Amino acid sequence: MAGTTRIWVASLLVGGVLIAGCSAEESAEPAPSPEAESSPPAADSAATELMQRARTTLGVLPRYVKNEANARTDAKIDLGRMLYYDARLSKNHDVSCNSCHMLDAFGVDGEPTSPGHRGQRGDRNSPTVYNAALHVAQFWDGRAADVEEQAGGPVLNPVEMAMPNEDSVLAVLRSIPGYVEAFAAAYPREDDPLTYANMAKAIGSFERALLTPGRLDAFLEGDAGALTEKQKRGLDTFLAVGCNSCHNGPALGGTMYRKLGFIFPYETEDPGREKITGNPADRHVFKVPSLRNVAKTGPYLHDGSIESLPEVVRIMGKHQIGLDLSDEQVSDIVAFLQALTGRVDASYIAKPELPANGPDTPAPDPS
Ligand code: HEC
Ligand code: HEC
Repeated sequence: MAGTTRIWVASLLVGGVLIAGCSAEESAEPAPSPEAESSPPAADSAATELMQRARTTLGVLPRYVKNEANARTDAKIDLGRMLYYDARLSKNHDVSCNSCHMLDAFGVDGEPTSPGHRGQRGDRNSPTVYNAALHVAQFWDGRAADVEEQAGGPVLNPVEMAMPNEDSVLAVLRSIPGYVEAFAAAYPREDDPLTYANMAKAIGSFERALLTPGRLDAFLEGDAGALTEKQKRGLDTFLAVGCNSCHNGPALGGTMYRKLGFIFPYETEDPGREKITGNPADRHVFKVPSLRNVAKTGPYLHDGSIESLPEVVRIMGKHQIGLDLSDEQVSDIVAFLQALTGRVDASYIAKPELPANGPDTPAPDPS
């Protein structure tokens, strides 16, 4: 196990820097103090050692997740924010991205599965949109490459926003004069700025700043007091038992796919990535989810079947690592996971005023 962990640490350093698009590893290093070198007080040196161990496997949370193919501009982000909140992108004008991924509720709706058009529910839990842009791919099974590709999906999904096709979505957007202007401002050099792909790019631009720094980041930057003693014990246990062999990188997840039941089989109906790849070896394989804000994003797992955080930690110990974690270990890890609740920028996520309907805006369709 120790050998495997070390390999992940090495590859992660490279991965973390690539994902973050910057090499903040060194700048995050606290200035070495000469006194600490000669006679380190026991508690401080333990905290420093824990900090360093955590930093190599978790890396630094960026402020924006860049995409070379979708350059960031304020006009695009402002447009993306409006679209994110606009229920007119749904057939009955009653479901928006924010219905299932509520930005003032850590990007989730708290339901095992989410009601979409006519209250229909899919078979998977809505993951949070916060920090999702850091993931190697989107959805539980990774079937969309990035947040831009993902954003085009729900609008046309019959159980989510249920629009019949791209043209019907574009007809709605073209009928709203404020959107015609906003697309022209966001894509000033394009002959035809109002396209489906540009809608998805704007939403993606907005999502790329939905990052939630918190106490863990302060700790990783050198503030030993940012975590309580119990949270530090939890972080130490998290690393010692190898949760970070899967949950690593700045989002504590989203860097790889692994089987649910990696060591000890876990009963679940969902085929996971097998549905995408057709490879029986991918049965029950899912994208390892991010653990940022996890205390606020239950219920848990791809089907939302587990309500309690201690229970899901116990399941992870048993099925992913092959360990029966003690009550104390579970309680310490849960305290650490609670320290992953981050800050949400209230002004960034505030619902903007949405542009008014034009004379030809199609009416809601409840069918
Ligand atoms: C009816 C509920 C619903 C609506 C509306 C909805 N989503 Fe989702 N979203 C989900 C579910 C469920 C999943 C997971 C599906 C899966 O993995 O198969 C998901 C997955 C995602 C993910 C992937 C996150 C990750 O960790 O992989 C992102 C990002 C996302 N949605 C953004 C959006 C955006 C943007 C919109 C609006 C255009 C939107 N969603 C509309 C329910 C919804
Ligand atoms: C072998 C890889 C692996 C290891 C090791 C692992 N996990 Fe996971 N973890 C996963 C996968 C994959 C999922 C998603 C499974 C699903 O939803 O079907 C997951 C899900 C979770 C969830 C639920 C997140 C959510 O939003 O639903 C939590 C919490 C979690 N893990 C914590 C831990 C902790 C704590 C440890 C260490 C005790 C750990 N994991 C070890 C792969 C792993």
